[in-house]
Amino acid sequence: MRKPLVAGNWKMHGSRASVTALVEGLLDLGATPCQTLICPSFVFLDQVQRQLAGSDIALGAQNLDWHDKGAYTGEVSAEMLVEFGCSHVLVGHSERRSLFAETDVQVGLKVEKCLSSGLTPVICIGESLAERQADETFTVVQRQLDAVIRQVGVTALRHGIIAYEPVWAIGTGESATPEQAETVHVHIRQYLAKQDENISQNIQLLYGGSVNGENAADLFAQENIDGALVGGASLKVDDFLRICRAAV
Ligand code: PGA
Repeated sequence: MRKPLVAGNWKMHGSRASVTALVEGLLDLGATPCQTLICPSFVFLDQVQRQLAGSDIALGAQNLDWHDKGAYTGEVSAEMLVEFGCSHVLVGHSERRSLFAETDVQVGLKVEKCLSSGLTPVICIGESLAERQADETFTVVQRQLDAVIRQVGVTALRHGIIAYEPVWAIGTGESATPEQAETVHVHIRQYLAKQDENISQNIQLLYGGSVNGENAADLFAQENIDGALVGGASLKVDDFLRICRAAV
């Protein structure tokens, strides 16, 4: 049985005060109903790690560098993230790919670094609107997955999570329909099954892109959607909690 996971991607939002209040809000509600992960900006990891002590909410980062250490100005290593209490890292988010020119090969290297450091990569894949309109959705997600599998091998994905996030649905308020998302999730599972049946059945496949308290239950009702990667709605305690409740 795959466990549902709801992950919040806080992106470049927050201040000391607002982050403190947001985490307090989540903690006030007691145990979250499903496996929950929050990914604040790097600069808030220390503060959130302290706040989360003793809670079952997991802490993640939004990115990492694949080198161990060295002259990589502005980058953050896996070892640093582990020291600051992270168990997960978002890798290959579409904003990293499109705004910061992150390549499929780099995404593979980052996944490899996560795995060798004991961090769980949340591997983000998904097509742009133009790619969807050109009927290339499956080709794009396969290409993105292949780059990772080439680097780490398919069985290594037993320690990973995949988030399918169609680029056209991210931050637009226009989520994929449950059927659209499920179709791609089924395809991803079938594609993985050709290489490793066990991985295909057990890997958590999250959907991301304008998930909110309203649409989460319908998305999670789909057999192959195991949770969500949530941006905007993860910054609001009530909305995020509603999504967590819908996941169980
Ligand atoms: P959104 O972002 O929920 O605001 O669409 C999702 C994401 O970028 O992971």
